Amino acid sequence: MADEKTFYVTTPIYYPSNRLHVGNSYTTVAADAMARFKRLTGYRVWFLTGTDEHGQKIQRQAEAAGKSPAVFVDEVVEWIKELWQELDIQYDDFIRTSEPRHKEKVARIFTRFYEQGDIYKGKYEGLYCTPCEAYWTERQLNDGACPDCGRKVELINEEAYFFRMSRYAQRLIEHIETHPEFIQPPSRKNEMINNFLKPGLEDLCVSRTSFNWGIPVPFDPEHVIYVWLDALSNYITALGYGEEDSLYEEFWPADVQLIGKDILRFHTIYWPIFLMALGEPLPKTVFGHGWLMLQEGKMSKSKGNAIDPLVLADRYSSDALRYFLLREIPFGQDGIFSLESFITRINNDLANDLGNLVSRTLTMAERYFEGVLPEPSAGDDSTDASLRNIALNTPEAVESAMEQMKISDSLTELWQLVRQSNKYIDDNMPWDLAKDPAKQERLGTVIYNLIESIRFVAVMLQPFMPRTPECIWEQIGIKESTKLQEWGSLRQWAMIKPGTIVKRGEDLFPRLNLQAEIKEMRADKPAEEDSDSEKAEELTGLITIEYFQQVDMRVADIISAESVPKSDKLLKIEVDIGEENKRQVVAGIAKYHQPEELIGKQVLFVANLKPVKLRGVLSQGMLLAATSEKGDLSLTTVDQKIAPGSRVS
Ligand code: MSP
Repeated sequence: MADEKTFYVTTPIYYPSNRLHVGNSYTTVAADAMARFKRLTGYRVWFLTGTDEHGQKIQRQAEAAGKSPAVFVDEVVEWIKELWQELDIQYDDFIRTSEPRHKEKVARIFTRFYEQGDIYKGKYEGLYCTPCEAYWTERQLNDGACPDCGRKVELINEEAYFFRMSRYAQRLIEHIETHPEFIQPPSRKNEMINNFLKPGLEDLCVSRTSFNWGIPVPFDPEHVIYVWLDALSNYITALGYGEEDSLYEEFWPADVQLIGKDILRFHTIYWPIFLMALGEPLPKTVFGHGWLMLQEGKMSKSKGNAIDPLVLADRYSSDALRYFLLREIPFGQDGIFSLESFITRINNDLANDLGNLVSRTLTMAERYFEGVLPEPSAGDDSTDASLRNIALNTPEAVESAMEQMKISDSLTELWQLVRQSNKYIDDNMPWDLAKDPAKQERLGTVIYNLIESIRFVAVMLQPFMPRTPECIWEQIGIKESTKLQEWGSLRQWAMIKPGTIVKRGEDLFPRLNLQAEIKEMRADKPAEEDSDSEKAEELTGLITIEYFQQVDMRVADIISAESVPKSDKLLKIEVDIGEENKRQVVAGIAKYHQPEELIGKQVLFVANLKPVKLRGVLSQGMLLAATSEKGDLSLTTVDQKIAPGSRVS
C-alpha cells in the first residue's frame, strides 16, 4: 500500500571469520526488537542482516584452516544463521557479499565512481590493520598499534585506486551539523567531526592487489575492491539498488542503521560519502551502540563457553537472553555481561516479577473460578483505577522510549505494569476475599483485572521476548484470538471476554540457583583458556587432541533397562564399565529402543560427565547415539565384542 508507513532497519554484516559471541548478537537482538516493535505498531518493515565475506582477514583465516575462503565462510554462515534462528531473529533478508546480486552491483558502483572522477589510480604506501580491515596513518596509531583493536599494523606498498574523500568532506560536515538525528547517540557526533573530519580527510585507498578474495575491479581485475566499500554497499544492493521497481524505492533511506561504536567511522564518514557520490539520500540515523564487555575486559571467543550465545540460549532460553541484553544495558552505553548479573535478572525480573504474576493469578483463577474468567463488577475502587491507568498509559510510554531507541527504558516502563499488577494482588489479598462468600463478586473483579493486565503485558512483550507471550496466550485462553494480541487492542481496558477458559501452565521462568549455575557454567569451560583468539582451530570450530582427550569415553555393557515413570522419552539404564560399581544413566531413547532389546548390548559411553538428576532419577554418564536428519536416534555400538570399560579414542 502506497501510504503505509515503512521502516528499514539494518545490522552490520558480520565477518564470518569466527563463531559470533554474545556481544555480536547484541546488535542483532536490538535490531530484531526494533523491527518487531515497528511491525506490531503497524509499519511495513524491512529488516536486513548478513555477512561480510571478502577481504584479507577472511582469506588468511581460510588459508590457516586449510580451506578455500568460499568453503570456510559457508560453514560459519550456516552457524550464524542457526544462531539467529535460535534467538528468534526475524529478518526479512540475509545478504552475503559473496552473492552475485551483491557483487554485480558493487562492481557497477565502483565503475561509476571511476567514470565520474571520484576514483583515480595511484600507489599506496602505508599502514593497514588486517583484523579491522582499516588503513591508518602513522599519526593515528596508538603506541605503534591499531587504535581500534590494539593489534600490529602492517606496512603495505602496492598499486591501488583511491577515492577522493575530500571532495565531499565539507558537505558531510554540514549534513552532520544540520541533522542532529544522523549520528546517535549525540555524544558520538563530536568524536567523528573533531577526530576525523576537521583534521582533513585523506583520499581513501579502495582497492588491493596482494590477495584475490574479493570483488575484482571490473576494468582492472588485478585489483579487488576494498572490503569496506564492498561491505557498506550491502545496505542498498540487498534492496535491489539500480533495478526497476525494487525495494530500494520503497525503503531507502534507512530509518536506523544499528552498529557498534567501533565501526562508526566507516558508517558516518565513508558510507555517507559513497552515497553522496551516488547522488542518493543518506540514512536517517546511524546508531552506534556501546560494547558488551566481560568483567575481565573485552570479549573474545577464547574466553570460553560462558559467552557463547547458543550455549546461553540453550540453557536459559533465548527469551531470557534477549531480555537481559535489552534490559541490562542502556542502549548506547557500554555494559558488563556476567553470569551473575544474567542469573540475577532472570530470578528477579523474569521468575519473581513476571513468572510469579502469571502463576499466582492463574492458580487463583483455577482455584476460585474453576478456570472460567469471571465477570468484573461495574464499580471500581482505587486499586482498580490505578492498575487500569498504568496499563492504559504504558503502551505510549513504551512506544515513546522505542522511538528514541531507549530500548532498556521501554522494558523498565513495561515492568512498572508488571510490578503494579503484583502490588494489586498484595493490596487486594484475593485469598482473604475468597474466605467470604459476600466478597465473591469483588474477588471476580480482581481476578478479571489481573488477567487483563497480564494480557496487556504480553502484547507489549512480543517484540522483546517473542516466545513468552505465546505461553501466556495459551494460559489466559486467547491463543486463537489474534485481535487480542494486537497493539491496537491496548487502547481500551477490559477487552478480554468473561467466560474465557484460562489454565495454569508450566512456570514461565523457574528460579535458578546462582551458585550452582556459576559452578556448572565454569565447569563447562575448556580447562585451559587460550589467550590467542585468532587461532585457526578456534576459527573453524575445530578442537585440539588434548581437548578431545578430556572426554573419558568407554565401552559399556547394558545390564538392565526400564522406563522412567511419567516420561515417554526416558529410560533408566544400568551399565557395566569395568568399575566395581555399576553406573546408572537416564537416556532419552525410549521412543527408539524397547528396554528389553537393549540388555546385553555393548555401547559407547561418556564416563566423566557430571552426574545430574533427570525427572528425579540420577544419571551418571551418557550413552552415545547417532541422530538421523529426521531426529531419530540409534545407539552407537562396537564392531566386535570387547571388555566393558575399554577406552574409546
Ligand atoms: N564486517 C564488519 C561490519 C561491516 S558493516 C557494513 C564488522 N564485522 S564484525 O563481525 O567484526 O562486527 C560486527 C559488529 O559486532 C560490530 O557492530 C561490532 O561493533 C559488534 N561487536 C563486536 N564485539 C562486540 C561487543 N563485545 N559488544 C557489542 N558489540 C560488539 O565489523
